[in-house]
Amino acid sequence: MKSLVSIQDLSKEEMLHILEVAREFEQNREQNFLAGKVIACLFFEPSTRTRLSFEAAINRLGARVIGFPDARNTSQSKGETLEDTIKIISNYSDMIVMRHPVAGAAATAASVASVPVINAGDGANQHPTQTLLDMYSMLKTQGTLENLTINMVGDLRFGRTVHSLCEAMWQFNPNLIFTAPEELEMPRKYTEFLDSKGVRYAKCTSLEEHIKDCDILYMTRVQQERFPDREEYERVKDCYRLTAPMLEGVKPGMKILHPLPRVGEITTDVDSSPHAYYFEQAGNGMYVRMAIISCLLGYR
Ligand code: CP
Repeated sequence: MKSLVSIQDLSKEEMLHILEVAREFEQNREQNFLAGKVIACLFFEPSTRTRLSFEAAINRLGARVIGFPDARNTSQSKGETLEDTIKIISNYSDMIVMRHPVAGAAATAASVASVPVINAGDGANQHPTQTLLDMYSMLKTQGTLENLTINMVGDLRFGRTVHSLCEAMWQFNPNLIFTAPEELEMPRKYTEFLDSKGVRYAKCTSLEEHIKDCDILYMTRVQQERFPDREEYERVKDCYRLTAPMLEGVKPGMKILHPLPRVGEITTDVDSSPHAYYFEQAGNGMYVRMAIISCLLGYR
């Protein structure tokens, strides 16, 4: 049994194994082999997809869920530390799924927990379970994870999903394109990591420039909640808007992914395009999270 704090906790083989198990669960989602287990879902930050797909995954595996979607009703509001909270909940559960606004909070939790901890997003740092469902979505739509051209667009500075994705995809010989205004560029920490692995990447500021080159167009939301400066957010919040006419001439198999929620960076006329895959992508999350839980608990 181990925790999943960073996508780098998993080897390439372990990631591929989880995707294989997810495929098994997609073919038969009525599983019950975790009956009697209790899994805690602790969400210190808002979530729709991650929390509810985890809860659905836990229920479909036969386990039960405890937890909270809002920490204001917990003893954290009385000043209890995260460490003490996690030690207590370790006594009640077989696994902890946690989202927290502070980067590094998942590592802190895992260091004091006596049960596996799954990072469901920690600040602008990591979102490893999103990455696995993104990979599953790429594998389903492209038939391979190798040699893909992936264009990441938008808030690459605060976007934990794109940070985790870089740290996973380097193992599959990708060609990465980072489309962002200067204020939202991919942090040097990640470009230096890619340099150390010999991964090809290009930076650009125009959404049109590479839209016809890519296999995956990975759109992201500009994350208002992470900006220290409101004026800076106002300057960049509408930096990209993907519309249906912009898809003219893209590769026939190109798919648009987005971790969601969206707030205007993809207009609704794109939803009916054969390139749109973001709602199916969110649906894949349940199977991938069933697989992650099963593998970390040693059942697959
Ligand atoms: N993709 C994602 O993490 O969505 P939620 O914030 O709704 O969980």
